[in-house]
Amino acid sequence: MRAGLWFCVLVSFFWGSCLGRFVVEKNSLRVTSPKDLKGVYECAIGNFGVPQYGGTMLGFVVYPKANRKACKAFDEFDISFKTKAGGLPTFLLIERGDCYFTTKAWNAQKAGAAAVLVSDDKIEPLITMDVPEEEMGNADYLQNISIPSALITKDLGDSFKKALANGDMVNVNLDWRESLPHPDERVEYEFWTNSNDECGPKCNSQIEFVRNFKGAAQILEHKGYTQFTPHYITWYCPEAFSLSKQCESQCINHGRYCAPDPEQDFSKGYDGKDVVMQNLRQLCVFKVANESGKPWLWWDYVTDFSIRCPMKEKKFNKECADKVIESLGLDLKRIDKCIGDPDANEENPILKAEQDAQIGHDSRGDVTILPTLVINNRQYRGKLDKAAVLKALCAGFQETTEPAICLTEEIETNECLENNGGCWHDKAANVTACKDTFRGRVCKCPIIHGVQFVGDGYTRCEASGSGRCEINNGGCWKQTKDSTTYSACVEGVSNGCKCPAGFKGDGIKLCEDVDECKERTACQCPECRCKNTWGSYECSCSGDLLYMREHDTCISKKTTEVGWSFLWVIFLGLGIAGLGAYAVYKYRIRNYMDSEIRAIMAQYMPLENQAEVPSHFSHGHV
Ligand SMILES: *[C@@H]1O[C@H](CO)[C@@H](O)[C@H](O)[C@H]1NC(C)=O
Ligand SMILES: *[C@@H]1O[C@H](CO)[C@@H](O)[C@H](O)[C@H]1NC(C)=O
Ligand SMILES: *[C@@H]1O[C@H](CO)[C@@H](O)[C@H](O)[C@H]1NC(C)=O
Repeated sequence: MRAGLWFCVLVSFFWGSCLGRFVVEKNSLRVTSPKDLKGVYECAIGNFGVPQYGGTMLGFVVYPKANRKACKAFDEFDISFKTKAGGLPTFLLIERGDCYFTTKAWNAQKAGAAAVLVSDDKIEPLITMDVPEEEMGNADYLQNISIPSALITKDLGDSFKKALANGDMVNVNLDWRESLPHPDERVEYEFWTNSNDECGPKCNSQIEFVRNFKGAAQILEHKGYTQFTPHYITWYCPEAFSLSKQCESQCINHGRYCAPDPEQDFSKGYDGKDVVMQNLRQLCVFKVANESGKPWLWWDYVTDFSIRCPMKEKKFNKECADKVIESLGLDLKRIDKCIGDPDANEENPILKAEQDAQIGHDSRGDVTILPTLVINNRQYRGKLDKAAVLKALCAGFQETTEPAICLTEEIETNECLENNGGCWHDKAANVTACKDTFRGRVCKCPIIHGVQFVGDGYTRCEASGSGRCEINNGGCWKQTKDSTTYSACVEGVSNGCKCPAGFKGDGIKLCEDVDECKERTACQCPECRCKNTWGSYECSCSGDLLYMREHDTCISKKTTEVGWSFLWVIFLGLGIAGLGAYAVYKYRIRNYMDSEIRAIMAQYMPLENQAEVPSHFSHGHV
């Protein structure tokens, strides 16, 4: 029995169904003509497309001449159901069988049908038409199905066909107004999800939904219109296996709470245990956020975690999660306390409660499919898409108590006003990466005065490109003394800060003046007198000598015309030769010039000058 459950659990996790108590969600179908079919019938809402929760839809039934199972595109048969101006929408009646329900709906939609009525092929209670269970190569059409689909009984389908064959017009009204309870002015809803981000289209569509729906969810929660609770499915390892390798790697708390391996490969990547831990952390984030009166932070956490800590980048861990938690201003200690010790041989109250909640009660069946959305204790059917889900949520309010968001999508909020939404910001420069959008806030490095900031948007944004020094000096050091300003920002370099010549330091917080005299980096010739200044130094030479700064040496003022012009010829020659190797030239010039000038001086200067040199030294300034 327990082993059976475990198997079922594994199967359902990946393939999405199990023998739990499954509730078929229904809407009603009212036939207004022909007369002998008049009445209200039940049909089952398909788990794809967009059911018009809270609304009704009027149309007339068409039974195609060919392609009656709608497994092929109707173009191939030259059939179209596009509504002409003033005409009633077409509800396409098609047969069950031979291909996926979603293929049928997609073909019908492409041909212009407004809704699909699938007639069951055997006499049985209504079932829920679901999406294909295995992954399919081109599953992107699933998200594009926007018409509602309903399964009708074989009996009703046969009656429709008979009436149509008699030339009767079959008018029906699909009605979803009572598909969800709507007792009061607050909607309670649950989202059953999973932190695993590597299970293909199913995981991708869950996280896509959270990102897209976040804005609306937060507004509704903020204003008290909804009470949202996230949920996570876990399973226990059958006791007989609790010490097996599989259970050890998939479970925490001695086999009590497990999730299947994300890659379905025990030997590599993340284990089921990592997923359970992350699920538990998300539950605790919700608990702590809810207790702080900010339950909507769950949406930010889950979105940010999926962006910042994906499995792909090997960041699906506590360290990365903690950074996200801190950026949202949540109390890490309380969350750690809530998580408890995953190695302890004891129940975790949070996960225990989740397992209990999996079992259905009242009108809600067991939760066995991920993701599952439960609205006012009824399972939502239809695609997981912002507009479709919002429509369903809005149908859960007692009439006239719907919030404005249900009536219009134009809504005003600015989640960046508080704590910059947890995004990167620079107080000094008054810039933030927080951007308010309809889908809630996003953390994205800004462009300010044409300067692009680059970084992850959460912990880091740096101005880059030209003009970056204009903004907060590019985040680099800058100081002014005696009306002289030095800056460590290097224009054009993407994000480097470099202390200017005459300074040393990291360039960001600090650049310190270099004492050239003490450090003996300049003005070191025997006849030089050195004086340090801020960012530079002064050097003078004794006697008749003149200090040549660029060569850091002293030369005599008393040179002949020939000497100077000869020197210039040499400089010019050096300049041309050195163009290509300027850097090398700069680096070596001091040594080079030293010997060169001495050689020149030996040739062209009066010998007594030469003789004076050592005397200066011996009289010493040092
Ligand atoms: C589904 O819609 C998207 C965007 O509207 C489009 O890019 C894509 O091609 C569509 N897929 C199919 C199979 O039509
Ligand atoms: C969240 O907080 C509200 C109000 O404090 C409370 O009624 C509700 O039960 C809490 N939800 C959960 C799941 O703890
Ligand atoms: C920061 O900039 C925003 C708009 O960019 C402005 O509204 C706000 O007053 C500024 N704050 C400070 C402290 O300068």
